[in-house]
Amino acid sequence: MNPFKYGSIVVAEHFCGREKLITQLQGHIFSAQNIVIYGERRVGKTSLIYEAIRRQKKFRPLRLDLMDIKSTDMLCRKILHALALLEKETGGIERFFKSLAALRPIFSIDPITGSPTISFDSEAPLSTDNLHEIFNQIKKADEQKPIVIVLDEFQSIMDIDDTTAVIAELRSHIQHATNIPFIFAGSIRKKMERIFISKNSPFFKSALPLSVKPLGRDEFIPFLTDKFQSGGRTINDDLWENIFDLAGETTGDVQQLCEAMWSVSESGATLNQNHIYQAVELLISREILSSQSIMTRLTEFQVKVLLSLARIGGKKPTSKAFLKQTGSYNASSVTKTLKRLEKTKIIYQIDHDWKFFNPVFKQYLLKNSAR
Ligand SMILES: Nc1ncnc2c1ncn2[C@@H]1O[C@H](COP(=O)(O)OP(=O)(O)OP(=O)(O)O)[C@@H](O)[C@H]1O
Ligand SMILES: [Mg+2]
Repeated sequence: MNPFKYGSIVVAEHFCGREKLITQLQGHIFSAQNIVIYGERRVGKTSLIYEAIRRQKKFRPLRLDLMDIKSTDMLCRKILHALALLEKETGGIERFFKSLAALRPIFSIDPITGSPTISFDSEAPLSTDNLHEIFNQIKKADEQKPIVIVLDEFQSIMDIDDTTAVIAELRSHIQHATNIPFIFAGSIRKKMERIFISKNSPFFKSALPLSVKPLGRDEFIPFLTDKFQSGGRTINDDLWENIFDLAGETTGDVQQLCEAMWSVSESGATLNQNHIYQAVELLISREILSSQSIMTRLTEFQVKVLLSLARIGGKKPTSKAFLKQTGSYNASSVTKTLKRLEKTKIIYQIDHDWKFFNPVFKQYLLKNSAR
């Protein structure tokens, strides 16, 4: 079986390093200090949170992933669902259902996955008025066994229609739940900063910031080498430079590339540069349909800008070299195009550097571009 895991949360034997951060995070949880975790996409934020929680026994996590929430109704239902699952584990589900009878909770087993699902048949959409009751329930559950609340992809709260009201209401409930630690995380830094750093936000300075950087090579390489060795693959040390470079140092992307290198090799092989090429090919072919679909939505100039980015990097998009690649010397139209591509989530900007959201799409572009 392929020992490399990517695309999902990794814990236990699949989790590498980060000892200091784990201890730090646990310390904050024990002192009910609210934390906001910043870090680029696929760097390992969510895994860090759940591994830190898994390694202690006092707190149980209330897991909330706010990705794609669009309304207060969805937010409330998400919290209730997570809470119901938690109560179910600790035998408190009957009391929980009774106290929320007005929302008509329904418990069922998903016929395909076999996992429990809980829905609320309330016809009226849930609103900020329901948050009061929801937080009462959280406090009751916390009295049974302490809870740590994880609000992942928290920046999505800004996509809710009445976001200002929800954010203010949420903040006030969180402020009153003084014994309960909250961990906020999100990968869209600009939005997260707007929530926690801008002075007129209710969440201004309400949580201690913690930065998660890509897993360092010194910790990661021995871990990955072991994984290769567990299946009889030997890897030459000089390949790592290229692997980390192709993956832009991003923790999850390094695992993804290693997974593909494993897939294109056999037990007993000594991995070489050729395996890297084949692995990149494999990754491109797995995502060919989505790459093609992105391409159909791009203009010719957008493709040129993306190609410049892929070829010479995004630190100086108005430099002569960059502009030359785009075939236009109009710096402001390049800047505008980059902003437009950011909106469609193909690229993002961090520390004055433009990067591809998906490194495989970058490789697809490079492969399919005739110079
Ligand atoms: N400590 C770790 N050890 C080994 N691999 C890791 C570690 N942390 C993250 N990864 C790799 O990165 C991938 C993404 O991890 P995770 O989902 O925790 O990141 P994230 O920062 O929350 O990502 P996103 O921005 O998509 O929410 C994992 O599937 C795994 O391949
Ligand atoms: Mg995450």
